[in-house]
Amino acid sequence: MSDEMIKIAELRDSEREAIQKIVSKVGTPVYIYFQERMEEQIRRFGDAVEKFSSDVEVQCYFAMLANHNPYLIRQILQAMEDNGLSPGVLCASEGHLRILSRISSLPRRLNIIYSDAFLDESKLSQFIHYLSSSEAYTLILILQTLQQTEIFTQKWPQIKEKMSEKFHVGVRIKLVGSSSKDIYSLYHGQNARFGLMRNNLQEALSKLKSCGISQVGFHIYPGTNILYLSELESLYNGLLQTIQKILTYNSGLELDFIDVGGGFGINYQKREFLNPDKVIEILKNIFSPLSDKKERILIEPGRTIIGPAGVLIAKVVDIKDEGSRKFVVVDTGLSHFARPYIYRQYHQVQVIPQNERRVKTNWDADAFIVGITMASGDFLAGDPLEDAPIKIERVEIGDLIAFLDVGAYGFCMSSNFSGLLKPPEVLVEGKNYYLVRERKEVGYLLAEVPLCLKSL
Ligand SMILES: Cc1ncc(COP(=O)(O)O)c(C=O)c1O
Repeated sequence: MSDEMIKIAELRDSEREAIQKIVSKVGTPVYIYFQERMEEQIRRFGDAVEKFSSDVEVQCYFAMLANHNPYLIRQILQAMEDNGLSPGVLCASEGHLRILSRISSLPRRLNIIYSDAFLDESKLSQFIHYLSSSEAYTLILILQTLQQTEIFTQKWPQIKEKMSEKFHVGVRIKLVGSSSKDIYSLYHGQNARFGLMRNNLQEALSKLKSCGISQVGFHIYPGTNILYLSELESLYNGLLQTIQKILTYNSGLELDFIDVGGGFGINYQKREFLNPDKVIEILKNIFSPLSDKKERILIEPGRTIIGPAGVLIAKVVDIKDEGSRKFVVVDTGLSHFARPYIYRQYHQVQVIPQNERRVKTNWDADAFIVGITMASGDFLAGDPLEDAPIKIERVEIGDLIAFLDVGAYGFCMSSNFSGLLKPPEVLVEGKNYYLVRERKEVGYLLAEVPLCLKSL
C-alpha cells in the first residue's frame, strides 16, 4: 500500500465488547459510532493542516450530508476544536440549518457554510434570520445558480447590515473538461447538474460586482468517493486555471477563499482511506503560489471523518443453504443501509458469533448476506451480478454481523421502505454508551397519516 492510503483499524476488543452490551440493551439492527475513531480521523486532518500551515490556511467543515445526527455533529465539532482545527460545518439544506440550530453547546467560534441545491427567497431569509442571531463566527453562502445569485443580490443590503464582517459569499464552479461515465460522480462537464460555467459564471460575478461585492470565493465539489490523489490533483488544477482566468478578466475582483469541497474516498473493500496529509500537501502545492498572501482554503470532508467510525449491527435470522451458495438473511436491509443497493458498493463484514463454544471454521460454500426487504437486489455483502459471493466464517441463526465503515451515508440515507422501522443510533465514548436516536414504535409508520380523510 502506498502512503496515499491509510488502513482502517480492525474491530478492537473493546469495540466488540461495546457491541455486545449495546445489542443486549437495544437489540438489532443498530447503528453504533465509536467516538475514538471519529477523533482519530479528525486528528489526522488537524495534524495535516498544522503541518502545512506556514504556506496555506486550511479550514475544515464537516459535511452534514454524510451524517446529520446532532449529537455526533456536536462531538465532531468539539474534536475539531481539541485538535487545533477551527470548528466548521457544511449545511446543504434548510433541514441541516434547523438541526444545527437545535444543538446545544456548540463551539462559540463556529464556521458555517450553507450551500443548497435549491435556494429561494424564504430559505435565504431564514438563513439570515437564524445566522444573524447565532454566534457563528464565519458564515459562507455558496451560490450555485444564476437564480440564486439574483435572489442573493436582492437580499444583500439586508445581509450587509446585519452581519457584514462575518459574512462571505462564493460561487460554485462546474469545470468544463472532465465528465463522468457514472451518474454518482457526475459533477463536472456539460451534463453535470451543479455549478456555474462559462457565461453563467461570468454573469453571476458581474451581478455580485454590480452590488459592490469585490471579494468572492470559488468552490468546486470534485466528485464523490475519489480514491486517487492524481484525480483530485487534476480537478484542483482545473479549478486553479479557472480562478486565474476569472481574476484576469474581472479587474477589481479579489479572491476571498477557495473551497475544494470533500470527496476524499474510502476503499470499502480494502478498508483504507485517502491520506489527509497527502491531500493537504497537494492543496498547498497547487494553490499556495496563487498570490502573494497565504490563501484560505476550505475543505468539506464528510465520508472520511465519520465513515470509519460507524458499524451497523444486524442479527442473522435465516440461512438458506443451496449447496453452492448460502444466503445469510439478516434483520436489516436496503431500507436501513442503502449504499450496496444504490451504488453497488459492498462493505466488509465481521461475524460476531453468539455461541461461544462454537468452533470457528470457514464455510465450504460461498455466501451472500442479504436483507429482509422484498427487493430482489437487497444484497448487503457479496455482489450477485458479478457472481462474487464472499467467504465468511461459519454463522448460525442468532449470530451478529457487523457491517463496517458505515458511519457516512448510512443512517442518513435510511427509509421505511418495505414497512421497516429505522434503526436506533448509539454513540460509544470510552466505557459510556449513549442512545443518540431511539428506535421507533410501529405506530411511527402511521405518524403522519391522519386518522380519517382530511379534505383540503
Ligand atoms: C458540496 C459538497 N461538499 C461536501 C460533501 C461531502 O463529501 P464527502 O462525504 O464525499 O467528503 C458533499 C457530498 O455530497 C457535497 O455535495
